[in-house]
Amino acid sequence: MWEKIQPAPPDSILGLTEQFKNDPNPHKVNLGVGVYKDDAGGTPILGAVKKAEKLLLAKETTKSYLPISGDPGYSRAVQKLVLGESNDAFTASRAVTIHAPGGTGALKVGADLMKKFTPDATVWVSSPTWANHNGIFGDAGFGIKSYSYYNPESKGLDLDNLLADLGKIPAGDIVVLHTCCHNPSGVDLDSAGWDAVVSLAEQQGWVPFLDFAYQGFGEGVEEDRYAVEQFSAAGIDFLVASSFSKNFGLYNERTGALTVVCPEADQAVVAMSHVKTVIRTNYSNPPAHGGLVATLILEDEELRQLWLNELAQMRVRIKDMRRALVKGLADCGVPGDFSFIEQQRGMFSFSGLSDDVVKWLRAEKSIFVVGGGRINLAGLTTGNVEHVCQCIAEAVQAVG
Ligand code: LMR
Repeated sequence: MWEKIQPAPPDSILGLTEQFKNDPNPHKVNLGVGVYKDDAGGTPILGAVKKAEKLLLAKETTKSYLPISGDPGYSRAVQKLVLGESNDAFTASRAVTIHAPGGTGALKVGADLMKKFTPDATVWVSSPTWANHNGIFGDAGFGIKSYSYYNPESKGLDLDNLLADLGKIPAGDIVVLHTCCHNPSGVDLDSAGWDAVVSLAEQQGWVPFLDFAYQGFGEGVEEDRYAVEQFSAAGIDFLVASSFSKNFGLYNERTGALTVVCPEADQAVVAMSHVKTVIRTNYSNPPAHGGLVATLILEDEELRQLWLNELAQMRVRIKDMRRALVKGLADCGVPGDFSFIEQQRGMFSFSGLSDDVVKWLRAEKSIFVVGGGRINLAGLTTGNVEHVCQCIAEAVQAVG
């Protein structure tokens, strides 16, 4: 069967990590995949996670299946974090949450769920967006279109066109929005921008599907959920795909969640029944470990505080690297004003580097940047940022 079939192209993000691993250059730098690195270039297990794992090992008694939707304690802990404890969607039980295998798994479950009930809907993604959004919603069978988001001239938000586009999307279509730390641009809406987007969702009747993979990497866990709170206050249907890969560093434990928020509690019960059928035919029920660890941390005051401190350190280090990159590029004489990098938020920066520069950096210097010029700031360290800036200066001179 495979004789006549062409190989698929490597994944635009995870494929880079494979190339990076195979690159023998001792000075190689991976600025590709969105994985946090500390200043020593490692991705250590968080102290809060280590402590929770110890507790869990001592008290767990079974490896039997979890319910289809995951551990109920996990769903509650996720809702408190993602929606906020005083959120009416939480207190009035208007939301249901399932443990999905990572943020990707949450998007996939949500996509399959929506396909069942709105098969003819178009899915709208930001221009640009995380490459996998196209894959996930496309494979679920949806047609995909994009709405304006990023302005390459100003290196900022294209707010007027964004609002104009969202104002034309018809009822029933699905609009994927990055709640904070937009991937790949690092350019976010401010609160007034979100208020306008929420009004358009109410006015138009399209269904917001929030991708919330970076809670805590913008300004803080509470600040970063502003959009979720506003959509909830509007009392409309929406979905949230969230993830503990980045903010708990639980990458390989596949610990994410899909939260479906409904106008009424009885509708949430109906929604959950259908979400469960989607999960059952996809992977039956989720893995347990990461969810139990996250729940232990979120429900224990001391562990929670330790986690929040560790998360703050990650956030601060990334902001430091933004400043170091801007200064380093100026010091190396790279033409242009890169100060916009300091305004962006989260792990990523749309650096403005051309595809030729990106290719040159990979081929000549073993510096891995995602096509389109997305840089993972967390891949920079005080030890490599100068080297990276010098290489960018050389690349720009050679092919920029
Ligand atoms: C990224 O965008 O690099 C991360 O979300 C990892 C992934 O799965 O692509």
